[in-house]
This record gives sequence, C-alpha cells and structure tokens, in this order.
Amino acid sequence: MLVLGIETSCDETACAIVQNGTKILSNVVSTQIDLHAQYGGVVPELACRRHADILIPVLDRALKEANVSLSDIHRIAVANTPGLIGALLIGVNAAKALAMTTNLPLVAVNHVEAHLYASMMPLLQEGTPLSELFPALGVVISGGHTFLAHMESASSYKILGKTVDDAMGEAFDKVACILGLSYPGGPKIEQLAKTGNPDLFPLKPGRVKERPLDFSFSGLKTNVLYLAKGQGSNKHSVLQIGASDKNHLAASFQKVAFDDLVTKIRLTCQQALTPYKYLVFGGGVSCNLTLRETIQQAGNLPPALWPPKGLALDNAAMIAGLAYHLVPEPSPLHLEAKASFFIP
Ligand code: KG4
Ligand code: ZN
Repeated sequence: MLVLGIETSCDETACAIVQNGTKILSNVVSTQIDLHAQYGGVVPELACRRHADILIPVLDRALKEANVSLSDIHRIAVANTPGLIGALLIGVNAAKALAMTTNLPLVAVNHVEAHLYASMMPLLQEGTPLSELFPALGVVISGGHTFLAHMESASSYKILGKTVDDAMGEAFDKVACILGLSYPGGPKIEQLAKTGNPDLFPLKPGRVKERPLDFSFSGLKTNVLYLAKGQGSNKHSVLQIGASDKNHLAASFQKVAFDDLVTKIRLTCQQALTPYKYLVFGGGVSCNLTLRETIQQAGNLPPALWPPKGLALDNAAMIAGLAYHLVPEPSPLHLEAKASFFIP
C-alpha cells in the first residue's frame, strides 16, 4: 500500500510517499527556519503563507522522487492535530481536495503520535510486528509537547506525566535565546555544551508538587536567565557572562534537563505493572546525541528506540507511515484541524 503523507503543522512543509508503513520512497521537507529565525521563533501568519505557497511544489517533488504518480497512491494521510491552526488547515484542506478529486481514502494522523511511530519504523522494517513493541513507554520531547505515555499501541496510550509549562524543546529554544543564540536553539545548545563543564552552575530540575512524573522548565529557565544576565533581569537585558561561561551554562542546563528526564523515566518504569518492552523517543530533542548517551549510560532501563536520520524533526514520512495502521475517515470532507489535542 502506497500512502502519500502531508505535514504542515508548524514550520516545515513536508510530503512523503511510504510503502506499507515502513519503506520510504520519498521524504521531502521544506523548512522555514530562514523565515522565522529573525523573529526568534515561529510567526504563525508567515508559516501559513509559506505552506500555501510551497505545498504543491513539495508534493510534486515527493511524487517525482518516489517515481510514482497520484494514480499509484492508495491513501492520503495528513497531520490534522496538534499544531498551529492556520498551518494545519493548509495541509488538511489540500489533503481533502486531493482525496475528493482522486477518490482515495483520507487518514487523519496525530502529529505527536507520528513522532513516536518514526522511532518504531526501523524495527518494523526489519520485520518485527507492530503489536510486539507494546507495552512501551512513549517519551515525547518536541518543541510543542513533553510527556511520558504508557502505550498499548501506536495510537492508544495513557499520559502518565507531562509538562506543566514549557515543552523541553521550547525550554532549549528559550535558553538559547537568553544566551544570544538563534532559533532553533536546541542544536546550538547541544553544540555549546560539548565544550562546557556541566557541573559548574548550580541548577536544579523543576518539581511539580505531588506530581513526581510531571515536568516544569520555567523555574530552570529563569535560573539560567539570572545566572546569564543578573538577578531580576529579563530576556532583553544584556548578557553578563563571557563565552566560556556560556558554554558551561548551556552544558549545565542540558545536563539538568536530561537527568530530570532520566529520573522520571526510571520512576515510571518502576511503577509499571507490566514491564515496558521499549522506551520510544519522539520529537526534535531526541536528535540530541548527548541525550542518547545519557539514556544509554543510565542503565537498567528498557532498550531505547530513537528516530532514524531524517525522521527526528518534522516530516511527512512519519505521517504516511503511521497512517498505514489507521482507519480512514468515514467522510473526508468533515475532517477538521485541531490546534491542541486532549491529554487525559
Ligand atoms: O519535534 P519538532 O521538530 O517540532 C515539534 O513538533 O514541536 O521539535 C523541534 C524542537 C525545537 O524546540 C528544537 O530546538 C528541538 O526540537 N531540537 C533539539 C535538537 N534538535 C532539535 N533540542 C535539543 N538538542 C537538539 N540537538
Ligand atoms: Zn513535531
């Protein structure tokens, strides 16, 4: 089965063709980083306009690179939640139009679930049946979401702990901004941290009263701000530390954030009634190689599944891949885009 996936939930316009849920025939991503970097974050209105301009050329390229035409496709899949509402609408409406004109089934995909699915794709490609991966602990660490989920399947899960303020990627971006680094900040923090001493600054992880599995990054971020720009400063204040301290601060922030994640993953695993077969990581922060090392060295945890190259950041191959396992919409014209998705 050939699935055409469409992804426009934030600042990447992407289309991909995936066969039987795992074999990627094409995976075209047009990033808008250049457009948003000067503003220090994604500007929704600009993101929507760029999606509208570029989606058809991206679709054409995805078909061409896969060496197929629309008439070879069996399903259209689109990320319809969560994300920026205007941005989601561009992809959803394009997918609806395609489904209606080609008479193909339309599948709605949750973008965050697709991030987790991306990490399962290599094992599935090797022939492991999807059902054999569960129960698994889903670890979502993206720019928009951070949570731990008990997964019974690729799309049924229970949230066990979540952030009460910023997502982890967002915290990386905000700390990067404090240190004068451009958007997106995650990869730049990782880079700076390589030459920093992670034990030099006394940072503490965020705690949420009586909810040991929940995350909070806002206190940690303010801590970084005051260390970088002085007590009581704000993000517009002038940086008061030199280059080497910047590296130490980046390293200290990264270490505290990752150690906090390990602590909560471990606690979740200890509380599980049935042991998790895998830790399934999803979202942009899972690109971070220092995190992968930290998890590997933590010991006594289930084996970790990481998104393969090209599938960690926003892309449409994960959308098309997951759609293979889902049930199409009964009525494509009624599919709606939803900005936020309910976390039980
Ligand atoms: O999953 P993603 O592409 O978008 C959302 O669905 O939100 O994640 C983007 C986020 C950004 O906040 C970015 O700074 C972060 O992932 N990120 C990283 C790294 N690469 C991307 N964070 C830490 N280390 C990285 N190497
Ligand atoms: Zn994403």
